[in-house]
Amino acid sequence: MFAAFLLPALPAEASGPLRTHAAARGKFIGAALATGPLSNETSYRNIAATEFNQVTAENAMKWDATEPSQGQFNFSGADAIVNFATQNNQQVHGHTLVWHSQTPGWVQGLGATQMRTAMQNHISQVVGRYASNATVVSWDVVNEIFDDNGGWRTSFWYNTLGQSYVADAFRAARAADPNARLCINDYNVEGINAKSTAMYNLVSSLRQQGVPVDCVGFQGHLAIQYGFPNDIQQNLQRFANLGVQVRITELDVRMQMPRDATKDTTQATYYRNVINACNAVTACAGVTIWGFTDKYSWVPDTFSGQGAALIYNENYQQKPSYTAVHDALAGGTSTDNTPPTTPGTPSSSGVTSNSAALTWTASTDSGGSGLAGYNVYREQGTTDTQLGQSTTNSISLTGLTPNTQYQVYVRARDGAGNLSANSALATFTTQSGPGGGGGCTAVGTVQNQWNNGYVVQPVTVTNGGTSAISGWTVTFTLPSGHTLSGSWNAAVTVSGQTVTARNVSHNGNLAPNASTSFGFQVSRPSGNTQTPSGYTCA
Ligand code: XIL
Repeated sequence: MFAAFLLPALPAEASGPLRTHAAARGKFIGAALATGPLSNETSYRNIAATEFNQVTAENAMKWDATEPSQGQFNFSGADAIVNFATQNNQQVHGHTLVWHSQTPGWVQGLGATQMRTAMQNHISQVVGRYASNATVVSWDVVNEIFDDNGGWRTSFWYNTLGQSYVADAFRAARAADPNARLCINDYNVEGINAKSTAMYNLVSSLRQQGVPVDCVGFQGHLAIQYGFPNDIQQNLQRFANLGVQVRITELDVRMQMPRDATKDTTQATYYRNVINACNAVTACAGVTIWGFTDKYSWVPDTFSGQGAALIYNENYQQKPSYTAVHDALAGGTSTDNTPPTTPGTPSSSGVTSNSAALTWTASTDSGGSGLAGYNVYREQGTTDTQLGQSTTNSISLTGLTPNTQYQVYVRARDGAGNLSANSALATFTTQSGPGGGGGCTAVGTVQNQWNNGYVVQPVTVTNGGTSAISGWTVTFTLPSGHTLSGSWNAAVTVSGQTVTARNVSHNGNLAPNASTSFGFQVSRPSGNTQTPSGYTCA
């Protein structure tokens, strides 16, 4: 059920550069490079050359750099990156041919026929320049074509050309270099959610039509305050099963500043989990980090108050995230069978008729794969019910049944899927009162979130009563300004901020103690971090 985690054969110390260990696995470990420090700073150049066997131009191959005015191409920055990579025996991933951002105004103002021709010419010239250059092996043909809900982004490309621009771009790239690996790339597609499913469906359909999509890039711009996409390996694997190569193309893990040791540790876990996921999926070619030193990360300029997202600090010193990447790449062949230590006894607070908060003393993990999070269970004698999951040592339980005694315990989970022993039990009783009813409960888990949206999956609906039910209705309230943008496995209606989710035909019948689930996605104002605070089931 869980992938074997590969344990370092030697003590987990940072010996040998990252690229040596990646190459031993047949994978790449890469970095996005900026032309300024590459020509000006020896430390930058040395680390870029020594640690990585793959390189992406952070900006130098984008349209505004390569064709600032129509038909006038400038490859000075792109060539500098490619030459550096050639000298250092690194492969280059070309980024990016067709994108709504960093594309000059002259392109955006063209009519449909001229825009399509300009796109095809740009691809032909840029890809063509490096077609016989063995260093440049792959391209992001289109970048970020979906909106956060999995609809088509209404970019100038889409608005002018419709969906066909994507297939046309891939065909033009194939014509310009029949040997290059051609990728589609996007963000917030690391876990299974509405957007990654839209990507999955598109890639599947394009390939059925013979459009040359060889590879899917998952950017991997993660943030410790938004949680780790725990199903990343499963998601990579479902794409791999379509027959495409997969790769992590722009990994960074930002945090709210200031940086501290606890955040560094969490960040290191995220890096390790991503490398482990790629290691575990044969079709995953490698991982590119979006830069390597915090000195030149795009994060502070883009996400206000956030930073420290990379594996070296501003002074080119290795951070815990470097060690995590190193050790995950350097792992030998034995499996991590060592579970995390047992979590402390949970303590409950804020108990209402349908919710309660729990906190406990954190576990540690010494088996190599690292602490991944916690599962919280309700002790019920026979089959215990999982009430929720958390990546931190606390959780808010919602959807509890009124006037009911709960005995709960926590187990820690590591990156290899090992579970700790059960913590001691905590007992609390929900208050009587309105809100629960019907004997069913619903508990929502935020699976993935980003600046202006989030996915709640699963919302686990459990029949806590003693007789079977043939239908259920879950209601919850969206915080002000939030709008529902998608849902699955439930029939959903919205009235104001109140959302009502009813079972669909295949998941209404629940025996006592049986569970089913549904999920939904929400858009919220940028910077807002709220999610629904509780779920009521009837
Ligand atoms: C970013 C660069 O890092 C910045 O230097 C630049 O100002 C803006 O673009 N997704 C992508 C990358 O595909 O090209 C973006 O790179 C980051 C988000």
